[in-house]
Amino acid sequence: MTTPVEAPRESARNSGVSAQRSMQQEVLAGLLTTRKRLNPKYFYDSVGARLFERITTLNAYYPTRTELAILRDAAGEIADLAGPRVALIEYGSGAGTKVRLLLDALDNPVAYVPIDIAGEQLRQVALALRDDYPTVAIHPVRADYTRALDLPKMEGESRHVAFFPGSTIGNFEPSAAASFLRGVRDTVGDDGAMILGIDRVKDVDTLEAAYNDPEGVTARFNLNLLTRINRELNASFMLDRFTHRAWWNSSESRIEMHLESQITQEVEVAGRQVRFDAGETIWTESSYKYDRPMLDALVRNAGFTVVCLWTDPGERFWVAFLDAT
Ligand code: AVI
Repeated sequence: MTTPVEAPRESARNSGVSAQRSMQQEVLAGLLTTRKRLNPKYFYDSVGARLFERITTLNAYYPTRTELAILRDAAGEIADLAGPRVALIEYGSGAGTKVRLLLDALDNPVAYVPIDIAGEQLRQVALALRDDYPTVAIHPVRADYTRALDLPKMEGESRHVAFFPGSTIGNFEPSAAASFLRGVRDTVGDDGAMILGIDRVKDVDTLEAAYNDPEGVTARFNLNLLTRINRELNASFMLDRFTHRAWWNSSESRIEMHLESQITQEVEVAGRQVRFDAGETIWTESSYKYDRPMLDALVRNAGFTVVCLWTDPGERFWVAFLDAT
């Protein structure tokens, strides 16, 4: 069964105007507090999405190639656990590369629902997948998947299987990760399952190198957030007055990314003045790394159980198959 791939369906709860308004409110709230921070979801405008794709190819950035290798090796076992005729729902589908490994291995998958905020990339991915997998109904949904969303109506699926690769779960604060997973559990239902990619705690050098690449792509990715805010919220950030910083915070089990103000300065954002001291930072991202007890607690609290866990020879990354309990 195929469905036409037109413009991605836009979730009614995420229309363009309200998204812009909520971005302005959220950015201002984050910059007008003492501990300045921005939501990492705003990294992904079209330039940010392209920079992130470059990051995934960098030598220092091990997660993507490690997860791909695990998925390649485990695809057959994953397909056995998922069973026939599943509807696969991917949260944050991006370039749509990893899902091909699953679609190739799964037994007669009936539908694929890529959910992403980047509309043009989503449309392109959906078109390409429709060509390559003509028996799979492709239902792109343009939405911020961190919010409640309505799934398109599908037909003939045996169960819903969520796919959330890339350790994007690591970019959620622990409480947000827990409520996101609970939302996924509600969406897939009592017969549902989830395939989750999650980065593991490891030595500090490997971790810090992954977020401080010598090519400077991660720095550009981080600074692009200011370019986006300049363009979309009428702001006056001067990029050469901020520096990319990333370090491992072991007590919180996370990489923190910041933008550090080089000087004392004032920046206008959406008509408001934001003051920075020299050395003050905007905290732009956390990337939590999990050990087994952390993973078990996260999964259990969301109403899932770990059925199978695959890792790589270097024990850097996990792919987990979770069943709803
Ligand atoms: C998308 N996410 C899992 C990436 C990470 O590793 O936390 C985003 C990223 N930030 C800097 N480099 C990559």
